[in-house]
Amino acid sequence: MKAIGVMKADGLALSLPGFRQFSLGGLALRCGERDIPDPAFDPESPEGAGVAAVDVRTVSVNYRDRAIICQGMVSARTNAFLAFGSEFCGEVAAIGRAVTDLTVGDRVIGVFAFPEPVAEGHLPGVVSNHCSVGRLVLPACKLMRIPSAMSDEIAAAFTLNALTVTAMLRRLRLTAGERLLVLGGGSNVSLFASSAASARGMDVTVVTTSARHASALADRCGGRVIVLDDPSGGLEGCTELMADVNERGLYAGVVDPFMDVHLMQAPLVMDQGGRYVTCGMARQIDGDAVALAVDSERLAAVFYTHLMLKNLTVMGNCLGTLADQQQALREWEAGRLIVHLDHVFGSGEELEFLERGFLDPDRLGKVVYRFGT
Ligand SMILES: NC(=O)c1ccc[n+]([C@@H]2O[C@H](COP(=O)([O-])OP(=O)(O)OC[C@H]3O[C@@H](n4cnc5c(N)ncnc54)[C@H](OP(=O)(O)O)[C@@H]3O)[C@@H](O)[C@H]2O)c1
Repeated sequence: MKAIGVMKADGLALSLPGFRQFSLGGLALRCGERDIPDPAFDPESPEGAGVAAVDVRTVSVNYRDRAIICQGMVSARTNAFLAFGSEFCGEVAAIGRAVTDLTVGDRVIGVFAFPEPVAEGHLPGVVSNHCSVGRLVLPACKLMRIPSAMSDEIAAAFTLNALTVTAMLRRLRLTAGERLLVLGGGSNVSLFASSAASARGMDVTVVTTSARHASALADRCGGRVIVLDDPSGGLEGCTELMADVNERGLYAGVVDPFMDVHLMQAPLVMDQGGRYVTCGMARQIDGDAVALAVDSERLAAVFYTHLMLKNLTVMGNCLGTLADQQQALREWEAGRLIVHLDHVFGSGEELEFLERGFLDPDRLGKVVYRFGT
C-alpha cells in the first residue's frame, strides 16, 4: 500500500527516492511516498466483525496536524516513518461479517462525533491522526457514506471544519440579521464559519491579518472584511473595527479559532448578552507567534469588566455531535456550506503538499493530496 509520511532528515530518508527535505517547527524533516505493508484485517474474526478496511483516496491537513507531526518527530526514532492527517475520503475495500450499513466500494469519511462517542465502547473524536497510511482499518460505526455529488477532494476537506463550525453556530444561537464577528478570517475554520453564517442570513464581519486575502475573503464570505493591520494592537487597536462598531453596533456573536490571540479583547466589541465561541489556539508549536501581550491592568479593564457588565457567555468548543455532522452534510448538499479548496496535489508532490498546507501564507482554503495520481 502506498503511504505518505515524514521522517527525520538525517537517517534512512536520505536514501529513499523522492524524499525531500523541509523544516517544520525548527525540525529538519523529509517527506515522501513509500510502500508499507497493509494492516492486518480478518473480516471473519471476532475482532474484524464490525470493522471495515478503507483505501484512502484523498487526505487533507489542518493546523493541528502540524503540532502532531512536530510532537511525534521530536521523540521519534531516527528511521521512524510518521503518517499524518485526520481528514480523509476513502473507498471501502472490505467489511467484517457483522457490518450491514456499508458495502465494498462505498466512498466514506470519518465520523468525528465528540464528546459523545458514536456508539458505546468506541472512542469519540477523529478516527485517526495518521490517515496518510493509505489503508485504514476502522470500526464501521466511525465511517459515514458521502453523497455521490461530493468529490473525493471536497470530502477530504470537509469533515473537521464542517462539523466544528456547525456545532459552533448551533451553540451561538444567532438568528438571521444578527451581527457575527469571525476572527482569524483566513483560517479554514473561519472560511467555513463565515460562508455558513452568511448563508443563514447573519450579518457577518470577518477580521483577517492578511491584507492580500481581503478581496478574496469578501467574495467568499459574503460579508464585510476588516484587515487587522497592526496585530500587536489587537482588536482594540484596529480603527476600522472600532468604526464599524460605532456605525453598525456591537456584535451578538463571535467565532474565534485563536483564543490566545483574541479572547482578551473580544468582549470590547460584544453586545449585551453576547456569545463568544472558540475552538483553538494559535500557539501550538515552537515558533508560533502570538502578537498580543495583555497586561493584568488591561485584562481587568477590558476582559473582566466587559464580561461581567455585558453578561457575556464564553464557550470552548471541540468538534461536535453526530447530528451536527449529519446536518453539515445536508447543508453542503443544499449549497449552504461551502468547502473552499486551495490546491490539490498528487504523487511526487508530497513536499509541495505539506509546504502549502503548513507554511505558505498565500494559502486560502484546504490543501488536499490525492493518492495514485
Ligand atoms: N477543537 C476543534 O474541534 C477544532 C477543529 C478545527 C480547528 N481547530 C483549531 O482552529 C484553529 C484554526 O485551524 P485551521 O486549520 O482552520 O487553521 P489554518 O487554516 O491553518 O489557519 C491559518 C490562518 O489563521 C490565522 N492565523 C494563524 N496563526 C495566527 C496567529 N498567530 N495570529 C493570528 N492569526 C493567525 C491566519 O489568518 P488571517 O491571515 O486571516 O489572519 C492564517 O492565514 C486551530 O487552532 C485549530 O487547532 C479546532
